[in-house]
Amino acid sequence: MGIFSLMTGRAGPSGFGSASTAEQVTQGIDAANLTAIVTGGASGIGLETARVLALRKAHVIIAARNMEAANAAKQQIFKDIETARVDVLKLDLCSMNSIKAFVAHFNALDVPLNILINNAGVMFCPFQLSEDGIEMQFATNYLGHFHLTNLLLEKMKNTARTTGIEGRIVNLSSIAHHHTYEHGIRFDNINDSVGYSDKKAYGQSKLANILHANELSRQLKEEGINITANSVHPGLIMTPLMRHSPVMMRLLQLFTYLLWKNIPQGAATTCYVALHPNLKGVTGKYYLDCNEMESSALAKDAVLARKLWDFSNKLVNSASNP
Ligand SMILES: NC(=O)c1ccc[n+]([C@@H]2O[C@H](COP(=O)([O-])OP(=O)(O)OC[C@H]3O[C@@H](n4cnc5c(N)ncnc54)[C@H](OP(=O)(O)O)[C@@H]3O)[C@@H](O)[C@H]2O)c1
Repeated sequence: MGIFSLMTGRAGPSGFGSASTAEQVTQGIDAANLTAIVTGGASGIGLETARVLALRKAHVIIAARNMEAANAAKQQIFKDIETARVDVLKLDLCSMNSIKAFVAHFNALDVPLNILINNAGVMFCPFQLSEDGIEMQFATNYLGHFHLTNLLLEKMKNTARTTGIEGRIVNLSSIAHHHTYEHGIRFDNINDSVGYSDKKAYGQSKLANILHANELSRQLKEEGINITANSVHPGLIMTPLMRHSPVMMRLLQLFTYLLWKNIPQGAATTCYVALHPNLKGVTGKYYLDCNEMESSALAKDAVLARKLWDFSNKLVNSASNP
């Protein structure tokens, strides 16, 4: 899948391409026996993902920090699909306390968990620390999802074991994972404002999303657990994600308009990886336009993935027990 396919929408080996929409890539799939959590499901790609999963009859939990926006998103889905099964729960990914509370509320619903879509994110924000003292893009895009996934994993394993249905974890990464700091992850100064680059910090967090999916996939395979973990680049889509650099992104769009997708196309790869039977048993891969894609050399580095895993556990422990 090269630039030509991206611009023309030509389908790749999966039968889908950049022009495919989330509805098209899930046509005919019945997800009535599945429960899915979509983080950041109140806007952009996450909202369309939640809508299409609900259209395929899945029970969808929108995890969002802004409950007003989440309830509006739920109403928007109901307008389109009267029979949708959608719940909203509060989750602020840059707070360990909020993640813990979200998992307690989710567990209280006493429902299974088949699909976890780690979608929420922020991009290019100026340097700031989360309430736990972690650099904001790393905290929100990666570390919060790392912690959330760990806290939900036992529930997902139980669901996969008792139902015999494959669980799926999908991490929203980005092609921006290629543009990161020199050694990939700033292990020695992750929270340091000196040397901070809003662009490279975003790339770092998106690299971490892939390394996370890969290491998780390796561990699940080793344990013989029926859950896959993959990562995706959704394409270039104009969403509220661009709020910290609207002018730059509009200009970029002007000069590269053939490379941009609309939101239904932007949600296609996530929905494909979350639901499509073609991907049964496929794990530890990176997808673009519903087709497998090479990630960067750093993203494929298994030693780096393990190092990030251990580093993240230490960060979560120190943030949870200051
Ligand atoms: N759009 C693109 O071109 C593009 C390209 C590559 C990758 N991606 C990735 O795709 C994913 C979805 O992005 P999008 O384009 O759909 O942007 P979006 O519409 O801004 O969606 C991101 C969602 O994440 C939520 N969020 C942000 N910080 C949060 C936090 N601390 N806790 C909980 N939720 C939080 C946002 O909620 P608030 O409204 O409350 O901030 C928003 O609903 C992101 O991971 C992004 O990196 C997007």
